[in-house]
Amino acid sequence: MKNAHLWMRGRVNNVRAVFSGKTIICNADGKSMATDDRGVPFFDPWINDEDKRAVLDSFNSRWLTGGPKAVEFEKLFANAVGSKFAISVNSCTAALHMAMRVLNVKPGDEVIVPVLTFAATANAPIFCGAKPVFADINEKTYNISPKSIIEKITEKTKAIIVVHYGGQPCDMKEIMEIAKDHKLPVVEDCAHTVGSTYMERKAGSIGTVGCFSFYPTKIITTLEGGMFVTDNEEIAKRAKILREHGMTKSAVDREKGSAWYYDVVDLGYNYRLNEIQAALGISQLERLNDINRLRVKAAHNYTECLKGINGIITPFTTKDRTHAYHLYVIRVVEKEFGISRNELFMELSKKKIGLSVHYTPLHLLTFYKDLLHHAVGDFPVAERIYDEILSLPIFPTITKEQLNQVVAEIKLAKEKAQ
Ligand SMILES: Cc1ncc(COP(=O)(O)O)c(C=O)c1O
Repeated sequence: MKNAHLWMRGRVNNVRAVFSGKTIICNADGKSMATDDRGVPFFDPWINDEDKRAVLDSFNSRWLTGGPKAVEFEKLFANAVGSKFAISVNSCTAALHMAMRVLNVKPGDEVIVPVLTFAATANAPIFCGAKPVFADINEKTYNISPKSIIEKITEKTKAIIVVHYGGQPCDMKEIMEIAKDHKLPVVEDCAHTVGSTYMERKAGSIGTVGCFSFYPTKIITTLEGGMFVTDNEEIAKRAKILREHGMTKSAVDREKGSAWYYDVVDLGYNYRLNEIQAALGISQLERLNDINRLRVKAAHNYTECLKGINGIITPFTTKDRTHAYHLYVIRVVEKEFGISRNELFMELSKKKIGLSVHYTPLHLLTFYKDLLHHAVGDFPVAERIYDEILSLPIFPTITKEQLNQVVAEIKLAKEKAQ
């Protein structure tokens, strides 16, 4: 087996990528080559031959950035998520920042965000001098709790950011009702989903703005990248200006109109997605249905195999929404399982199973603790969940063998504990 690895590593087409501190090796088709003794990676990128061709072709254009590929990607993406306007950006973080700017979030304002999320969600209001106000989560879905949102609304609240945790839409009906009652805009942080639905509507198209991520582990990738979507024409216009230095005309617009003049009307940024990334995005988007189907299939397989294990809680789902399974998160209930989440993490890590924990509740991290003066106990649900959650390997090309290996190691760890 060792020789086989050496042979595979020597091939020109093999790609190495590092995720969560692990080196992953994939072949030319992006198919996982992880074997038993190499364990199962937490994530394996799926870059196929069409993706590579699309990237190479994009170099033949005169436009390497800010050109027609980005516009094409935006149109296709808007259509895929059911929004009127899409503005491509170079990260979801950029999209979230622009969302705060278009909603006029300013120093002194408060923006409600879930406490169980990635730092970028809470940083967006801070970039504008505003305060992120954490809300606790739902015990079953780990999504922001509508009840907690209501408790956190004050006269300073300017907006609500929700995160569709792991790819499962939040309780959008309740959240939109609260937002309407208090005349507040809702930003959907869709970093974990492209295409999941809530009561027939696509995530990202329900609130005022939707923000997507195309980071490598996400549903589709442009390596780094993101998308800002909205149905509001004024907001879309302003976002486009903010993306490009506050300028009234992009380079493409100027060439089309044969006019060199532009004005700068706002404090803008360079948040553009380049043409090579856009070409990759278009190619990835073409197989969005396959990507989502394969993730769901893997998740259902996990659930089927894990549901009989005492002390393991599999993801909670309801019929009114679909789950994109960017993450497959289990809960390890120590009393029933026999060992804690941390102990199981160690056991599985020894077997080279790639794992992660999403997330440490933000109020427990140094920066937010110092900024917001929170204490342990402030968000009881998130804190309880945090001790028990474990994200298992999931990606479209995960094989049945890899999945079985993860399950077998979990069972073995339980047996050892008894
Ligand atoms: C919930 C959430 N929001 C925002 C982001 C930021 O995305 P990006 O890396 O594209 O800026 C991430 C990234 O992991 C995320 O998980």
